[in-house]
Amino acid sequence: MFPARLLRTCGDQLSQARRRDGDPVAIFTPIARLIFAMTSFEENGKSKVLIVGDAMLDRYWFGEVARISPEAPVPVVRVERTEDRLGGAANVARNVQALGGQALLLSVVGHDQDGVILSGLLADSAIKASLRVDRQITTTTKLRVIGRQQQLLRIDFEDKPSGPILDLKLQDYERLLPNCDVVVFSDYSKGCLTHVDRMIRAARRQKKPVLVDPKGTDYSRYRGATVVTPNRAELREVTGPWIDEDDLCTKASKLRREMAFDWLLLTRSEEGMSLFSAAEPLHEAAIAREVFDVSGAGDTVIATLAVMVARGFDVEDAMRIANRAASVVVGKLGTATCSLDELQMAL
Ligand SMILES: Nc1ncnc2c1ncn2[C@@H]1O[C@H](COP(=O)(O)OP(=O)(O)OP(=O)(O)O)[C@@H](O)[C@H]1O
Ligand SMILES: [Mg+2]
Repeated sequence: MFPARLLRTCGDQLSQARRRDGDPVAIFTPIARLIFAMTSFEENGKSKVLIVGDAMLDRYWFGEVARISPEAPVPVVRVERTEDRLGGAANVARNVQALGGQALLLSVVGHDQDGVILSGLLADSAIKASLRVDRQITTTTKLRVIGRQQQLLRIDFEDKPSGPILDLKLQDYERLLPNCDVVVFSDYSKGCLTHVDRMIRAARRQKKPVLVDPKGTDYSRYRGATVVTPNRAELREVTGPWIDEDDLCTKASKLRREMAFDWLLLTRSEEGMSLFSAAEPLHEAAIAREVFDVSGAGDTVIATLAVMVARGFDVEDAMRIANRAASVVVGKLGTATCSLDELQMAL
C-alpha cells in the first residue's frame, strides 16, 4: 500500500522549503528516496541486518517506598510490578524489526533462567537469534530498582564469555554473513566482540557495509568499518576533549583517517549529530520536542542507519532519517523503538 499520508508530508515539506526560499530539492530528496524505498519494502522482502554484540536483559522492579530499613540506613522497596526488556545488542535488533527490517542477532547467553527469558523476548519480537549458551557465565542482566519514580539502585550481572564459545561464535558469524545485507556490531564491552577485527575484515571482503556502535579506547579493533557511531563521551575517551567545533572536526577527522573508517558519525544528544568523512562535515540539529527518556536513542540511531543503508540509501540521507527516528524515541517513555509509521509521521 502506498502511504497517502507520506505523499501529503512530501507536499508540505516542498511548499515549506519554497516559502523559506530554501532549496526544495535538498529537503525533498531524502524524503522522496524514502518514499521510493518504502513503496518497494514489500516487493523486495525485508532487509536482512546481522547484529553481533552484547545482548542483555534490562530488568525493572517498580515499587513503593514506605519506610527505612531497620537493618541499614536504606529505603525498603515493596515491589509491585516487574518488567523485562531487550537491552544492548538485543535492543538494536528490536529497533531493526520495528522499522520493517529482518534482524538476525548473534550473541552469547548463560545457561540460566535469564537466558531463557531473553530468548523468549526475542521470539516475541520475531527476531531471529543465534545464541550460544556458555555454561560458565551468567546472562548479562541490568536490574534497576525504581521507587517513587526514581531509580534507587542498579545491580549488574555480567561475565565475559569463554574462549571456546567465542571461537564457535566466529564460526556462526562466517556462516551467517553471506546471507545478510548489512552488519551491525553493538559493543557494550561485555566481551562478545573479542574477534570484532576479524569479523569486520570478513564482512568487508564480502562487500557488506559494517556499522559499529563502539566502546572503549582501542578503536583499531574496528579498523576498516564503514560507519562508527560514538556518542560525545565515547569519542572524548579516545580523542581527548575538544575546545571548539574546529578542534572537534580536526580530532574526529584524524581518528577517522587513522582507523580507515569511511564515516564517523558523532551522536551529540541535544546537539543532534555530526558526520565526518573525506568530504566536508555534515551537521544535523536535534529536532526540538518534549524529551522523556533518552536512554536507548543510540541503539535507535544505529538500527535506523542499518535498515536505510540496507535499502540503498547513502549514509548522509540515512543519518538524517536516523536523527528523526531518534527524536521519536526520546519523546517516549519505556518502549525505545520507532516504527515505520512513526518515522513517516516524523518526516
Ligand atoms: N535531549 C535530546 N533532544 C533531542 N534529541 C535527542 C536528545 N538526546 C538524544 N537525542 C537524539 O538521539 C541521538 C542519540 O543520542 P545520544 O548522542 O545521547 O546517543 P547515546 O548516548 O549513544 O544514547 P544511549 O547510549 O543512551 O542509547 C542524538 O543524535 C539525537 O538525534
Ligand atoms: Mg550509545
